[in-house]
Amino acid sequence: MPFTANRDFKKHPRIMSGASGHHYTTEDGRRLYDLFSGLWTSGLGHCHPKIVEAVQKQVATLDYSIGFQASNNRAFELAERVIDMAPEGFTQCFFTNSGSESVDTALKIALGYHRAHGEGNRTRLIGRERGYHGVNFGGMSVGGMAPNRKAFSANLIPGVDHIRTTFDLENTAFSKGQPGWGVHLAEDLEKLCALHDGSNIAAVIVEPVAGSTGILPPPKGYLERLREICDTHGILLIFDEVITAFGRLGEPFGAKYFDVTPDIITTAKGLTNGVIPMGAVLVRESVFDAFMQGPETMIELFHGYTYSGHPVAAAAGVATLEVYEEEGTFDQAKSLAKPFEDLLHGFAQHDKVVDVRNIGLMGAIELAPRPGAPGARGLEMHKKCFWEEDLVIRNGMDILQFSPFLNADVTDLEDAFQRLRRALDSIE
Ligand SMILES: Cc1ncc(COP(=O)(O)O)c(C=O)c1O
Repeated sequence: MPFTANRDFKKHPRIMSGASGHHYTTEDGRRLYDLFSGLWTSGLGHCHPKIVEAVQKQVATLDYSIGFQASNNRAFELAERVIDMAPEGFTQCFFTNSGSESVDTALKIALGYHRAHGEGNRTRLIGRERGYHGVNFGGMSVGGMAPNRKAFSANLIPGVDHIRTTFDLENTAFSKGQPGWGVHLAEDLEKLCALHDGSNIAAVIVEPVAGSTGILPPPKGYLERLREICDTHGILLIFDEVITAFGRLGEPFGAKYFDVTPDIITTAKGLTNGVIPMGAVLVRESVFDAFMQGPETMIELFHGYTYSGHPVAAAAGVATLEVYEEEGTFDQAKSLAKPFEDLLHGFAQHDKVVDVRNIGLMGAIELAPRPGAPGARGLEMHKKCFWEEDLVIRNGMDILQFSPFLNADVTDLEDAFQRLRRALDSIE
């Protein structure tokens, strides 16, 4: 089981057997409201008829096609659509099968870009404490989640450094949206440029909003300052938008929401509404152009996956992006942000709560850990909600995380948060 307490799960299995719209069903026939929209994946709801139909049609038409030196029509159709939605200046994208692969692809593109420019010395990569960039070696190394690194630290890739997290309970607790405190933490990057020399640094990767470590919105002015420092030193800025792309903040990309344009964007999850695994790495034209050198018959990027641009995944992606547009999903998400914020901050006074934070349709309620048993209260909440309140939420240790559907009904959210309160009141 991925990121799961396996032995505990075996004693108390939580297994879905169906899904439709905003609910899961279990084998014993219960209907559970999904307050995490899959795993940040399924903003349109489960089994959206248009996506289901597109996948069924595609699998019966072109189930797979070779992706090296030939390709398929759906992959190019999806690439065009993704680029149409992207911030200005982005002209190309590369398909992967997951967020982790998108991150490792982006890091490799950054290294290759500098090498193509004759700056092969730029090999250092900078991540951030409490960043999550998936589980492959590159993403794990630039990531800043201590438990994920601890067990494997002997094998992390060399030449990686980190700036500090922007989260500080004392200074940011109960912020609504971007905290006013913390812009000074961007100067960590200047410090690292002084230490390693900026000319040796290839790229900085951050999530515009750190998601998996508990919803940590960036301080006001912070992302802007990172962009400035990167420009000064010729460093590529990578936004890991595996969560924030495709409507989570009410915009197609977090870059648009924050009005800060990186050089590379990684995505996955909402690209296909979670229906088929797929990710995409978007690059600015200048990044792409750097690779387009040498004889035309030579491969320019020695990288790729057997399933890059898989036609069935791409068909799911095309249908998903069409639905976002046809149903005005991002505007729906935008209009839900305030009611969602009000519901979350209704827990601010609860005696077990030490922080509430949110931005767009990303939110967290952080519980005080039980003395001597960090994470136990959070896991109990997850289980209690599942079995007694017919509600699916996610806990990262004692941080309850919420990722409502982009097209959720406010009344359903009100009801879900009532159930959550009942569960919170009833546990120790
Ligand atoms: C920001 C970010 N990057 C990368 C990943 C890894 O994605 P995957 O689990 O699809 O490999 C995640 C997953 O949650 C993520 O949130």
